[in-house]
This record gives sequence, structure tokens and C-alpha cells, in this order.
Amino acid sequence: MKKIFFFIILIGIFVNSNAQQKGRRSISLIPQPASIVENNNLGRFILPSGLIIIVPKNDEVKKIASVFASQIATPTGYKTTIKTGNSLLPKSILFSLTNDKAIADEGYKLKVTSAGITLTARKPAGIFYGVQTLLQLLPSGITSTTELDYDEWNIPAVTIEDHPRFGWRGLMLDVSRHFFTVAQVKDYIDQMVKYKFNLLHLHLVDDQGWRIEIKSLPKLTEVGAWRVERTGTFGTLSKPEPGEKATYGGFYTHDDIKELVRYAADRFVNILPEIDVPGHSLAALASYPELSCTPGEYYVSPGDRFMVWPGGGQHFYGLLDNTICPANEKAYEFLDKVFTEVAQLFPFAYIHMGGDETARNFWEKSEQIKALMKKENLKDLDEVQSYFVKRVEKIINSKGKKMIGWDEILQGGLAPNAAVMSWRGMKGGIEAAKLGHEVVMSPTDFAYIDYMQGDASVEPPVYASLRLKKAYQFEPLPEGVDAKLIKGGQANLWTEQVYNTRHLQYMTWPRAFAIAEALWSQKEKRNWNDFSKRVERHFERLEMAKVKYSPAIYDPIVTVSKKDSATILVKLETEIEGLSIHYSFDNSFPDNFYPVYKEQLTVPRDAATMKLITYRYNEPIGRMMVLTITELRKRAGIK
Ligand code: ACM
Repeated sequence: MKKIFFFIILIGIFVNSNAQQKGRRSISLIPQPASIVENNNLGRFILPSGLIIIVPKNDEVKKIASVFASQIATPTGYKTTIKTGNSLLPKSILFSLTNDKAIADEGYKLKVTSAGITLTARKPAGIFYGVQTLLQLLPSGITSTTELDYDEWNIPAVTIEDHPRFGWRGLMLDVSRHFFTVAQVKDYIDQMVKYKFNLLHLHLVDDQGWRIEIKSLPKLTEVGAWRVERTGTFGTLSKPEPGEKATYGGFYTHDDIKELVRYAADRFVNILPEIDVPGHSLAALASYPELSCTPGEYYVSPGDRFMVWPGGGQHFYGLLDNTICPANEKAYEFLDKVFTEVAQLFPFAYIHMGGDETARNFWEKSEQIKALMKKENLKDLDEVQSYFVKRVEKIINSKGKKMIGWDEILQGGLAPNAAVMSWRGMKGGIEAAKLGHEVVMSPTDFAYIDYMQGDASVEPPVYASLRLKKAYQFEPLPEGVDAKLIKGGQANLWTEQVYNTRHLQYMTWPRAFAIAEALWSQKEKRNWNDFSKRVERHFERLEMAKVKYSPAIYDPIVTVSKKDSATILVKLETEIEGLSIHYSFDNSFPDNFYPVYKEQLTVPRDAATMKLITYRYNEPIGRMMVLTITELRKRAGIK
């Protein structure tokens, strides 16, 4: 019986993979469109080897068509011709711009029949998003980096009408803690636009490196862009040795930035530059120590412990003063120079000034700060910080830009025109919106994709966790605030522990799928079980594209408690349906012949390890998880 079952499964897998390229295939779009009607009786559009795309007289649309043509050329080996015109030819694709006000700015209508495809939008951006949908309607092999020997490439007949829920759909990439090259950032842009993100926030400066050329302040990149090289766990790395050469780093020249901005714009992505001040400023201080309130020698941190978080959370202090001094006029001259060049390089309407996690323990002792407080009648350090932020806003506004900052800029009074990026939960965003300010939501609870996405026993260590299922619960629009002020949201990828692009991808996917859907799709369209199935289909696309992703959704969720001071209880769950969890306590590796988890387990008295693995259709699918009983005792709170 078992054998027959296995055989049926095998046939199922075979038919399914064959169906990937030929015949019927279920539609699996991320993010879910506003409306989709499958027209099964209208057959399928089979991509001809000499495809014609007809485009209006519009350079942006022409560019979209040529990027699309080159994307499909690699896996199919087909040559596409782009022609100007406004009517569909047989077996062709028509991109069409309309004045129809019913279509939103980034919205589109896509109609696929066996005879041809029509993609209509009011703006080129809509055509671009329609093309991303079209790519997802093709078999997953369409993302392949090499030519595939498929009999045919077909697209099911559908009618889709689509538009985004939010206009700000972002990913933040920290290029300070680890530097990523222009080519690597372009690659990240290529990946994000497939899921309809339209904003890349570059965290350009921090304690670990200054990454943007400022021609009027050359030391920022001569000194601030470089640090001694260390590998290991952030916050535990060793300080620079006396005389040690700073060999790790890099920065973007003005030409690099222009190239990135152009590349992003061609893909309808705005780049938001962040210059994080007054905290997180060691790289600036290593270059220009006179900007500090605390005289001394500064170095670009390789990831050593110079900030302390006693008990975690929001409380911290610096062992070094890594802040730019609000009481120093030179700081404002410096920032004027920085923001002059930043404003010239980035066309986006906003500049991010950071403002987060400013350790103020050195300010408390500073005579300069005390004098500033007296002069400006500032009653506490919140007001000192706010004084600084307000002056920075004046500088940024004077360059013709709007200022956005992390939610700490609310402390001591918000600058008059500032937008707030809410990260310590949603509350800062709610407070700012109630004060009439614009808000972007990126709360740690749902949108911090630097956190671990599965159990700590199988993930590289980070101090907090965010599973895909939780990320999928991200709801950027809180009740009781003016929806117009909530511009959207973003996921943030801090890179203290991200040393390379493979891991960058691993941390981003699949959680960015969840964020993409939270920001694009209508709220009522969201459904975890349906989404998780689509995620698996998109894993195929990532594999074809040679993009790494986390398989953590296949691993069990382990919840540990104690029955009494000697007895540990373990509850196991799975994030997605249809998995069985097998376990051992005898140090051997479990497989599907081992006991299957049914109810809460009591750890046997002398056990040394608990090992877990998930199976689906008698095949292992999760990773082998090994948890020592010492670790379980710790999690259960047993001494
Ligand atoms: C932040 O995560 N410090 C904004």
C-alpha cells in the first residue's frame, strides 16, 4: 500500500513539473492583484519564438519592453522585436497608455487570450508592474539564468485589474555595516521590483563606515569608509590594534550614485538616502573628530562593543561618544555640506536624517551641551536632541527636500515639516500622524528582516526573531489615523551580521514577499494559507534565478516551558500546513520512521539533546534541528 502511495506521489510530482511548462498550471502571483479572472475557455497564449511587442511612442515604455525582452531572451532563447504602434497584431503583446482616470497611477489592466496580450496603463509605471505580473504568469523557468529546453512557454488566459494599496513600498539596505557594490545593489533592485517594491532606502552611513563621496569633505571617504577587517559576531569583534591598516570598506562615488539612481529610476524605484545623525556617527568622527562634544581619537568601528544595552530593549549607553555634537556650530556647517551634495545626487523628494538610538551619556557631562541648554532654554536632553533635529530639518528643507527620520525624532518635539519612520512598533507613527505628519511604517515586530526567521538552533544568531507568518500580519494602516498620512511601509535589512550577497538574499526572501503583499495588495485579499502556498511556488522562481532564500517555513516552531524545576515541556508547531514533525531524544538523527509529534512532549529525565526534522510526502523537507537540553533548560527558565 505504502509503495503504491509513493508511486502516485511520484507521478503527481512528474505531472506537476511537466505542467510547469506545458498545459495547465495554477496561477501564483505575489503580491496578489486587486482582481483576477481566469478565462479558461480562452485558452493560453503561447509565446512565439519571434515575439512582437507593440509599444506607444513613449521612451519609458519602450525601455520597459526592451528590459522585458532581454529578461525572457535568456531562458527561452527567443528574439523579440519591439515596434511602435497602437493595435494588437496576431500573437503579439500590446503595451498601451490610456487617459482612463479609472486606472490608478501605478495601476494596470492585463488581458491575456490565446490570440494576444494587451497591457494597458495610464502611466509607464503601470506598464512596468503589468510586466512583472506577466513574468509571474509565465512558467517559473522564466527566471532562469540559463536557456531552458522547454517545448513551449505559455501564459494562462486571464484578465487582471490591479493597483497598489500604498505608494511607499520599500526595502531598506544597510550598506554601512557591510558594503555592497553598485552591481550588487543593482541586483537587489532587480529582485525587489519583481515583487513591485518601488523604494530602496540606502542606510549610507553608520559607526562602521561612511559610504558616499562628499567632495567638499574628502576625509569622510578617505578615512571614514575604511575599517580594520573582522569576521564573526557583531558587537564582540576586536578593536583595531595600534597601527593596524583599515582594509575593509568602500564607498559610492558621485558617478556611482548617479548610475544607481538612473538604474533604479528605469525600474520605477526611488532611492531614499539616509545620513544617520547625531548618533551612529563614528565613521564621521573618525574623519572629523572636531564634530564631537568629547575630545578624543575616534576610529571606524569594526563591530566592537562600544555601545551597551543593559537588559536589551531601548536602554543603552555608549562606552565611546559616537554622536555629532548639537552644541557645535561646526556640526551644522558639516551637515550643510553633506546635505548639499546628497540633495544634488538623489532626485527623490525626501532625505532621511536617521535620528535613532542617540546615546546621550556623554552629553550629560559636556560643558558645551550645558551652555547650549542655557542659551536656548532647553530643559532636558530630549530637547537638545530635538533642537538638533529641527536645525537639520532647516538645512534639508533649504536644499529643496523634505526630511524623514526614525521615530526618536518625536522626542522633545517634532520638527515642523518632518515625516516619521516608525520602527519601535507603530506607536511613533500613530503619534506623528495624529500630529498631522506623514508616516512610513517599518515596525520591528513585522518588518525587521535582519532578525532570525526560524529557530535559533538553525539560524545564524541575531538577538530577535521574525517569522514569515508574523511578517505577513503586517498591517501598515492603524485604526483611527488619517489614512492619507500613512504613506506606506518598508522592511529593513540591517547588515551587522550580513557579510555577503548570498546571506543578503537569504534574509530578504521570503519575508519581503510578505511585506510586498502587505503594501501592494488589498487588505481583504490577504490569506496566510493561500500566501504560503504561493511562497513555495516562488521558491522555484528564486532557485531558477539562483537567488538564495530561507527555508525556515519548513522547520518546526519550538515552544519550551517548565512543568516543575526539573521537567521541561516542549510544544511543536509548523508554520505551514501538511508537514509531520519527527523527533528523537536519544542523540540519533530522526527520520520519518521515528515518532511523529502529536502532543506536547515531556523531555526524558536524562536526555542530552532533542533532534527534530519535518517531512512531507515521506520526504525530508525541514532542516535537522539539534537542540541541547541545556539550551531547552535555558529557554524554559530552569537554572
Ligand atoms: C533602528 O533600527 N535603529 C532604526
